[in-house]
Amino acid sequence: MKSELSTTIMERIRDVPDYPQPGVLFKDITPLLGDPVAFAAVVDELAGLHDVDKIVGIEARGFILGAPVAYRTGAGFVPVRKKGKLPAPTLAESYELEYGTATVEVHHDAFTPGDRVLIVDDVLATGGTAAATVELVRRAGGEVVCFAVLMELAFLKGRERLTGVEIRSLVIV
Ligand code: PRP
Repeated sequence: MKSELSTTIMERIRDVPDYPQPGVLFKDITPLLGDPVAFAAVVDELAGLHDVDKIVGIEARGFILGAPVAYRTGAGFVPVRKKGKLPAPTLAESYELEYGTATVEVHHDAFTPGDRVLIVDDVLATGGTAAATVELVRRAGGEVVCFAVLMELAFLKGRERLTGVEIRSLVIV
């Protein structure tokens, strides 16, 4: 049986066909973000998952979710950004896309060694972004306690790339 929160989330994530390219069904979370009660419920749920030192948000929608979770829990917030966006020295991790590669980065001094970390993003699809972020956090000295998303697209099997990591998906489709 689906929880009330799962239903709330599913009703407020809009499918946009053929974005950003033909054949892709984009999961648009802006209707959820625009609903103050639903947005707060999601933040509260994510904030209640674990006691951590740092929340990592993955650019860009992971920032929108992760920052209020950090505020709510009293944890620090660490942005993981696409290549070239962070100003100070970084660690970088690349991963395969269907065509080519992508790179995510984090500041090399973002964590105190042993920091307990919750990673937050909106969608788990192929898992490439998530797996690269997990690796990045570990290399930077953080301990990944959990990876949490609003929505997991199970048919893309992203979970299989995150072995050994607790994954919390508020909705699985
Ligand atoms: C989306 C989404 C996740 C990632 C999931 O971000 O927000 O971060 O893709 O895909 P994966 O599991 O196949 O790696 P996107 O790359 O569209 O970046 P954006 O949020 O900056 O638009």
